[in-house]
Amino acid sequence: MSEVFDPAFFDFYAALPQQGPGRDSETLHVLHRIADRLPAQPRVADLGCGTGRTTLALAAALPDAAVTAIDFSDAFCQRLRDETTHRNLGSRIHIHEADMAAPPIAPSSLDLLWSEGAVYNIGFENALSLWRPLLKPAGYAVISECTWLSDDRPHAVSEFWAAAYPSMGTRTENVSRATAAGYEIIDTHTLAAEAWADYYDPITKAIEDGNAAQLGPAFIAELEQERAIFAASRGSYGYVFYTVKPRRRA
Ligand SMILES: C[S@@+](CC[C@H](N)C(=O)[O-])C[C@H]1O[C@@H](n2cnc3c(N)ncnc32)[C@H](O)[C@@H]1O
Repeated sequence: MSEVFDPAFFDFYAALPQQGPGRDSETLHVLHRIADRLPAQPRVADLGCGTGRTTLALAAALPDAAVTAIDFSDAFCQRLRDETTHRNLGSRIHIHEADMAAPPIAPSSLDLLWSEGAVYNIGFENALSLWRPLLKPAGYAVISECTWLSDDRPHAVSEFWAAAYPSMGTRTENVSRATAAGYEIIDTHTLAAEAWADYYDPITKAIEDGNAAQLGPAFIAELEQERAIFAASRGSYGYVFYTVKPRRRA
């Protein structure tokens, strides 16, 4: 999701089914690889939840979990609040408009910290160190991060990301960052390329239907460029889920 702090931008994205690449089957695939290691009533947080695609998927898959959802957009939080009420999940999903760099979550309280497609906003390394104290000693964090997947990068793709996200790392670099921040790496999983279409297709349709006009031509051009860059990428980047847990101190 490109970031522009204008209410029209948040209203546009709030009307979309999701605010970043992803799909529930991928979220659940990653969750199920650790779900049996979680306690019966896990305390979960979804940081940078958007309108809550992942929050709702996690709450459905973990029916005895309490889930704290955090996003700084009031439009996104309100849409998730409406959906939570509609699904009668108000007692299990707690939504806060807050900065995920300083989330209203008690230290050592989380069994599972989840963040999909959002961490780039505060930086992967920064988030790793800010979020570690929130986890219980036996807790897990699952963080998806845009990652270089190969060295075969078309020039336009390298140039785009050098400007948009210069600290984007390879999987090896990100594993090293997580290790240096005091985590043990449990698993990594690359988001299926098709899950990017779940994000881009509704945007393309909104543009075609004239429902993005309020964003202005320059911003629409940026959205189209981002999709074109992905299409031209030859698989050189993608989202990787990093499943990690705090390493026991020696
Ligand atoms: C690309 S979207 C991903 C949303 C959601 N996780 C998903 O997969 O659909 C990134 C989200 O992070 C939120 N965000 C960005 N910076 C934030 C911050 N500092 N604190 C809280 N939320 C933030 C944005 O409002 C947006 O909802």
